[in-house]
Amino acid sequence: MCMNSPTLELLRSHRSIRRYKPEPVPDSAIRAAVEAGQMASTSSSVQPTSVIVVKDHRKRERLAELCGPQRYVAEAGAFLVFLADTRRHRLACERDGLTYDTRLEAFMVSIIDTALMAEKTVIAFEAMGYGICYIGGLRTRTSEVDELLDLPEGVYPLFGLCVGVPDEQPSKRPRLPVEAVLFEDRYPDDDKLLNIMSEYDEQYCQYLKQRGAKTIEGWSERMAKKFAKPERTDLAAYYRGKGARLD
Ligand SMILES: Cc1cc2nc3c(=O)[nH]c(=O)nc-3n(C[C@H](O)[C@H](O)[C@H](O)COP(=O)(O)O)c2cc1C
Repeated sequence: MCMNSPTLELLRSHRSIRRYKPEPVPDSAIRAAVEAGQMASTSSSVQPTSVIVVKDHRKRERLAELCGPQRYVAEAGAFLVFLADTRRHRLACERDGLTYDTRLEAFMVSIIDTALMAEKTVIAFEAMGYGICYIGGLRTRTSEVDELLDLPEGVYPLFGLCVGVPDEQPSKRPRLPVEAVLFEDRYPDDDKLLNIMSEYDEQYCQYLKQRGAKTIEGWSERMAKKFAKPERTDLAAYYRGKGARLD
């Protein structure tokens, strides 16, 4: 068993890139990365993912606004939109005279499998030397994104992906110690988790200081603030409106 393979090294070296050189990502590279991503495992082979490469300059500019604003959405060499896509399943039902009739499980599968395919696509891009940044900001003004991309029923935008030649070398953002996420046989007590979290908070503050961040606060403080207020509260209504069943 080799624990120092180039693949492991590549995975460990990930960091999000938010400054890119003004070089486009060739179609051949995008195609190769997405084809590699398609080899991700997928529940019962449902393959519920589509990707739109946004090439139109005006659409990119508009998306940069809708996603934040986040300038790198317009500036990266390429911008991809990952869609949880049940369209092909609906068409198959319709063609065979059946009613598309699913519940939350189908929606969850479409999201889970799309995330798996996206991350494999990301690894492929990183293996080619590109930098990436996921863009969850795509869900901030989802209806407007939907309109801009003219998405049909059953196609749910999840997140965007900036890809390009890195023009920065940010330091690696430290993760929770593995003891906080990897357990044997049973889930740990809250006290144990809280202790590990405080240790991580110190490390996280060090990282933020070293990055010159304006606000220095521990990870758990940041999480407490984040999850104490509802975010993107129109999402359930939006996804229901696109045909998703959430019950
Ligand atoms: C689904 C998803 C959505 C994200 N959305 C954004 C985003 O809108 N803007 C951004 O700058 N970073 C975004 N990120 C990047 C995270 O902030 C980043 O992965 C995290 O802080 C860890 O840092 P690292 O990727 O450099 O290790 C997103 C990441 C994921 C997985």
